[in-house]
Amino acid sequence: TVVAGVVGHPIAHSMSPILHNAWLAAAGIDGVYVPFDVSPENFPSFTKGLRGGSLSGLNVTVPFKTQAMALADQVSERARLAQAANVLVFGPDGGILADNTDGLGLLTAFAVQAPGFDPAAAPVAILGAGGAARGAAAAFLSAGARDIRIINRTVARAEEIAADLGGCVRAYGLDQAGPGFDGVGALINATSAGLSGAGVLDVPIAATPRTAVVMDMVYKPLLTPFLAQAQALGRPTVDGLEMLIGQAIPAFHAFFGQPPPEGVDVRTLAKQALG
Ligand code: ATR
Repeated sequence: TVVAGVVGHPIAHSMSPILHNAWLAAAGIDGVYVPFDVSPENFPSFTKGLRGGSLSGLNVTVPFKTQAMALADQVSERARLAQAANVLVFGPDGGILADNTDGLGLLTAFAVQAPGFDPAAAPVAILGAGGAARGAAAAFLSAGARDIRIINRTVARAEEIAADLGGCVRAYGLDQAGPGFDGVGALINATSAGLSGAGVLDVPIAATPRTAVVMDMVYKPLLTPFLAQAQALGRPTVDGLEMLIGQAIPAFHAFFGQPPPEGVDVRTLAKQALG
């Protein structure tokens, strides 16, 4: 039996076990995917204790994505660019490889829900300057975007990402959101505003072109106030659940040695679990 899982704190409401176990069952793989709730002080010993491959791998979620990368022996280029890992793979030689499939998940979500979208065709605006925003910027850069605008309440954090990722990435303050939205092909909310109690994001979505695709990385609720506002303005939208599914596909492949089987409606399963 191949065992993989997801580690976070808290972890009870993670959708990942639903996705992976549905794929395992449909593919007839002798495997299981388990959630692990690990306290921050125990995360290093928990992870190092898995050296050798009793588990084939782990997805890593809040609050461990940065720590996970620091613990690994090898870090993929895309994890290095994002400065975070959402995947750890345990090799039989005892090594730990850190990878990041969140960026791929983001691009897959656009490919599924906004199929005409071309990341290279127009500027991309990203709200926020935490790990999620950095990963999104790195993903769009790798997909050919040439004008990425990081818009953040604390402009210094946006400037840090711009300095790290290079000339195609520029920093804006939240008060510059209007000009930052001018001419964009996509607008992504990568802030934690909208998560329980963090407050509502007040930005002029109407300043984006009519055709701009608006995306929210948050998927609880599936239709966030941000996406609802975008839809009311007639903008096409992409949701965070599709990104979650998109990051899980390459992770499943890494953990179980084959891509997920076709034709499993994991989106409906996850939506049911979200309630
Ligand atoms: P993560 O690593 O998961 O992306 P983070 O590092 O905590 O999370 O970043 C959260 C982001 O949401 C930050 O960009 C934060 O803005 P600041 O850098 O100014 O703190 C942004 N954010 C959170 N609540 C917000 C709010 N109510 N309005 C605007 N931005 C908010």
